[in-house]
This record gives sequence, C-alpha cells and structure tokens, in this order.
Amino acid sequence: MKRRHHKEWWQRAVIYEIAPISFQDSNGDGNGDLPGLLRRLEYLEWLGIDAIWLTPIYRSPMLDLGYDISDFCAVDPLFGTLEDFDRLVETLHARDLRLILDFVPNHTSDKHTWFRGSRSSRKHPKSDWYIWEEPAANGGPPNNWQSRFGGSAWEWDEVREQYYYHSFLAQQPDLNWRNPAVREALRDVMRFWLRRGVDGFRVDASAVLIKDDLLRDNPPNPKADARTPPPQRLEPVFTDDRRETMDCIEEMRAVIDEFDDCVICGEVQGKTDRIGHFYGNDKPRLHLPLNFALLDTQWEPFPLQANIDAYYKALPEGAWPDWVIGGHDKRRVAGKIGQPQARILAMLLLTLKGTPFFFAGDEIGMEPVSIPPERVCDPFEKLVGGFGLNRDPERSPMPWDASALGGFTTGEPWLPLGDTSQRNVHQQMQDPKSLLSLYRELISLRRREPALTRGELRPVRSRNDIFSFARTFKGSEFLIGLNLVHEPREWEWQGAGTLLVSTHLDRKEQPLKGPTLLRADEGLIVELAS
Ligand code: GLC
Repeated sequence: MKRRHHKEWWQRAVIYEIAPISFQDSNGDGNGDLPGLLRRLEYLEWLGIDAIWLTPIYRSPMLDLGYDISDFCAVDPLFGTLEDFDRLVETLHARDLRLILDFVPNHTSDKHTWFRGSRSSRKHPKSDWYIWEEPAANGGPPNNWQSRFGGSAWEWDEVREQYYYHSFLAQQPDLNWRNPAVREALRDVMRFWLRRGVDGFRVDASAVLIKDDLLRDNPPNPKADARTPPPQRLEPVFTDDRRETMDCIEEMRAVIDEFDDCVICGEVQGKTDRIGHFYGNDKPRLHLPLNFALLDTQWEPFPLQANIDAYYKALPEGAWPDWVIGGHDKRRVAGKIGQPQARILAMLLLTLKGTPFFFAGDEIGMEPVSIPPERVCDPFEKLVGGFGLNRDPERSPMPWDASALGGFTTGEPWLPLGDTSQRNVHQQMQDPKSLLSLYRELISLRRREPALTRGELRPVRSRNDIFSFARTFKGSEFLIGLNLVHEPREWEWQGAGTLLVSTHLDRKEQPLKGPTLLRADEGLIVELAS
C-alpha cells in the first residue's frame, strides 16, 4: 500500500542513488541484487533518506552497467525476478520510502527483439525503429558524428547494407524518436513500471533523443587539444540538445502526470544556461533536471558562490532546484576535496534549497578505488583509455564492514573493493563523530525544520574563505557558515542564536553569538533568535 502524505514529496525528499550491482550480494555470485538490497533497507531507514533511485535492473547483456537493455519489462536474472521487484516496491512503501527507476529511452541493446527485427530486413515492421542511413558517397559513414565511447557513431550492418547510429556503444543502437510508434512503445514501458508502483524515473541521456534530420557534420570543438578525449573533439551541436528533444520530454512528462504523485528527473546537458529549458514553460518537462554544479565547481569560496548563484538565477519561475554530489558516472568527490571538506559538502548539500541527491557510499566518504588494468569493466575506459575516464573507481562495491570483502559478497566481487578497514558502514555507525553520523544528523535536522526544505534562501556574500547563507521560513531563520580552508577563520555574523550542528559533531544545542571563530574545516548551522 502506498502512503501518500505530501503533494510534492520529492521537493522535501533526500534521494539516494544505488547501483544495485554494487550494493549487496545475496547469492555469492559477486554481483549485488534485489534480495540483497532488501536486506539493507533497515540501513536506509536508519540513515533517514526518503527515496532511492536504482540504476537499470532490466534484462541486459550488461556491457554498460545495464544501460544496454534487451528487455525493458523484465528484471535481469543477475538482480533477481519480477517477484523480487514487487516485494521491493511493497517493502519500501510499507516503510514510507519511495522508488525511482532509471529509464533509458535513447537506445536499447543490440540483443533487444526490436533491434533484431529492425536489422533483419528493410521490410520488417520495425525497420524504422532505429536510425538507419545509407553510406556517404565514398561508401563510408553518413557523416562525422562520433560515439561518446569512441570512434564513428555509425556501424555498418551487412544484412541491411546500411549504417545504424549509436550514441554510445555499437551494441547500444539509438532508437528512432522521430517514429511515433517508438514513442508510443516507450510510453507503454513507463506505464508498465508505474502500474507496478514505482514513484518515478530518472531519464537517462534525455538531451540526446533527437538528432539533426539533415545529418549535418558536427563542427570541431575549438577548445579541444591533445588532452581532450577524441570523442569530445567535436562540438555535438547536431546530435545533442536539439529543439525537438523537448517535445519528447514533454510526452514522457505527460505519462508521469497520468499517475498520482510521481516524479521525473533527468540527465540533461551540463551547462547551467540550458537548465531552464529542461523544466519547460507552458508545457511542463522534467521536475528535476539533474544539477551537477557542486561537482563541477572549483572547491573555493568565490567559484562556489558564483556557481551556486548562477544556478539559482537560471531557474525559471516556480522551478524546484536540486543538487547532486555523486553518481555512477562521477568521480567520488571525497577523493577530490578530501575527507575534512567532504563534511562541509555534506552540510552544504543538506542545507541548500533544493532536493539533495547522493550516491551510495558518499555518506561514508568513499574515494575512488584503484582498479588494476585486468579488472577494468567500464567500456568507456576500454575504448577511450588514457584520459582518466574510467568510471569503475566510483562503482566499487559498498564496504559494509571491515572484512576483506566488506560484507558485500562471499564470492568474487565484480569490481575490487578498496581498503575496507579504512572506511566502512559498520565502523562509522559506531562512531558518533563519523561522516556517516554527520549525514544522519543533518538529514534528521532537515526533516524537522521546514526552513531547510521549503524555506527561502538568502545568500550572504563569501568572505574570509567562508561560504555563508541563510534559510528562512515563517519567522524562523537558520544561518549556515562553512569554512572552506584547513585553518581557523573568523565568521562575521551579527546577533545571537543557538548552534545546532557543527560538522565536527562535538558541540550542539548551545547558545552562540556572532562573530564566531570557525575551526579548520568547520561548518555550523545556527538558528537565530527571533
Ligand atoms: C548515461 C548513463 C551512463 C551510460 C550512458 C549510456 O549517461 O548515466 O552510465 O553509460 O547513459 O546509456
């Protein structure tokens, strides 16, 4: 039974991304699965998150972490069965947790029956379900478009004697979104899962659904040099973020709106100046175009201030913000900014206005795990090696305890685990000052104080290496001060209040007067006296 308390639950929710293959194995095959995930729901409840987003669990040859789907309406045996899935939905809802699935509308696996049919003959009823083109005059690919995973995005097919287009792997042919039958079939896939009780989707690669119908060549990227990975040496103006893509997103949103209280998030073009388009104007598009500004920014007060301001300013009226600090495609941020500042980031993420997203393991400060060359799984690294693109380091399994296999599996893990004795869930649950305890404390404060979710955000200009802002709601005001350096700094604020949380977790609920000396790497939340 679904429990529906709030209209727009996703505005108040903390959303936790899980790659099930790396979360918890239940059968010793070294791959996490749904029964394993079910065993860990108590942990998620303890942590206090509201919703989980799962990377794809559908039937797949698993060449690209399951983003190569061969049946959209089946669970891959690696993860379990449809019955396991139904049990997951039911158990989550009974605990008042919600479930968001990844939805991958841009492409399928080449093993999908749709593609098998399409490639079998030009006369097949699904012949036009993918993007087929004749060779160029010289017999080569139709144009210069590149796959994100390297090489031409066109693959020659001997049977049809035509090329098909793939934005990613050759084994991931792109669907033809100009064909209404394809659009209808994908809307039905969404309905299939929504009827089974999912609370929404994260739409994969939602900015690339439509490609230029004139097949114009992409121009060179003027910023590219020898260090630029080859697939990024062209500007993808004719393949990415085309105007017609917005119609596709509007159609997906319309399906979401057929159901009560569901959410649609999406992976979109990274640039802040494009974000508004993905929310839509007269016709609604995504509820939450995912915003990676906190990951992409330089970790210093002025760039941080500039990026956060720019993002808020770019939002259309009524649009709800969101902040993402980790993900299955993103370098673990604790490795970039260091463990002390990872605590500052946690406080920032959970006090900014907007829905916070983090990736399983971020709450214990997981860092990139080093992967020996013979264990590399990521096709991106295999095909475009040498540019630091490998996504395996952030996908390493969750270390639940200090044992060699981290309590993740009893078999050979699909990817190596890091040093589990250094950082694991069990140890950090016991330690009242751990990063994990800080996440839990901040999530629970956020839940208690509407100012931290619904409240307005009042920027305070960065000064003295401190990033500061306030959240206000119906007469209550919370001031947040974050010291971004490894030395003490004076935080210049006026007035008096109650210190609620320090990132050091060694002082709370005490009276405080501004200005305050922040210790090295310390952040504070202060409730101002009204
Ligand atoms: C998205 C996914 C990424 C995947 C790609 C192809 O960008 O986040 O992991 O490789 O789509 O499906």
